[in-house]
Amino acid sequence: MKVGVFDSGIGGLTVVKSLLEHQLFEEIIYFGDTARVPYGIKDKNTIIRYAIEAVEFFKNFELDMIIVACNTVSAYALQEMRESASCPVIGVVEAGVLATSNALNDKESNILILGTKATINSKAYETGLNSLGFDNLQAKATGLFVPLVEEEIYSGEILEAAFKHYFSNITHPNAVILGCTHFPLISEALTNHFGDDTLLIHSGDAIVEYLEREFTFTNKYESPELKFFASENPEALRDIAKKWLP
Ligand code: DGL
Repeated sequence: MKVGVFDSGIGGLTVVKSLLEHQLFEEIIYFGDTARVPYGIKDKNTIIRYAIEAVEFFKNFELDMIIVACNTVSAYALQEMRESASCPVIGVVEAGVLATSNALNDKESNILILGTKATINSKAYETGLNSLGFDNLQAKATGLFVPLVEEEIYSGEILEAAFKHYFSNITHPNAVILGCTHFPLISEALTNHFGDDTLLIHSGDAIVEYLEREFTFTNKYESPELKFFASENPEALRDIAKKWLP
């Protein structure tokens, strides 16, 4: 199995980490559109155009599947990507909705959705969760977390100030959807903030859960071949990958 993983930048590496931990693929080809990140402040048509260009890039490889490791793209461009790709295209939003629903027994659970401005405006998570009977939802666009993570700021004063800014009106959630693939990098700080009793939903783990349910994986690949591509400064992406990946 050969998979293409696409994100606007480096955030999708958190999804690659989950894929590696579960040894699902023989070859992983990562493409980060680092020249044009962030997508989360762009409009729908631009996000769709960039996403279709990513599909075109992946046509250079014979892929069995494309994983959209970006919530923003998954929220806006999945349909268009599926129309131009010749292999299945799997997004993190649907997987995240299902993982949340599977993890929570109580439909009254208070769920906080975090994401980029575009993801939150799309209401993609709300729509999915509502259809499964979850109505006690709060949503917050927390785009500042993206550059903080890119600056490798995972804790400390600046992040605390951002938490204060974003979360002062939030009621204590039972679960937080990390609706941006950058956000798992600040999981520890979020758990410190909300407490151990708040469950965090991670796009990478959600996609693994989804894949293992929807597809049959007969082999495990201990050391898959990894190839990293970026639209700008691929060396920087490879350096981050070395730091973040097992
Ligand atoms: N990693 C992207 C996501 O999951 C967000 C970063 C961006 O704004 O491009 O939505």
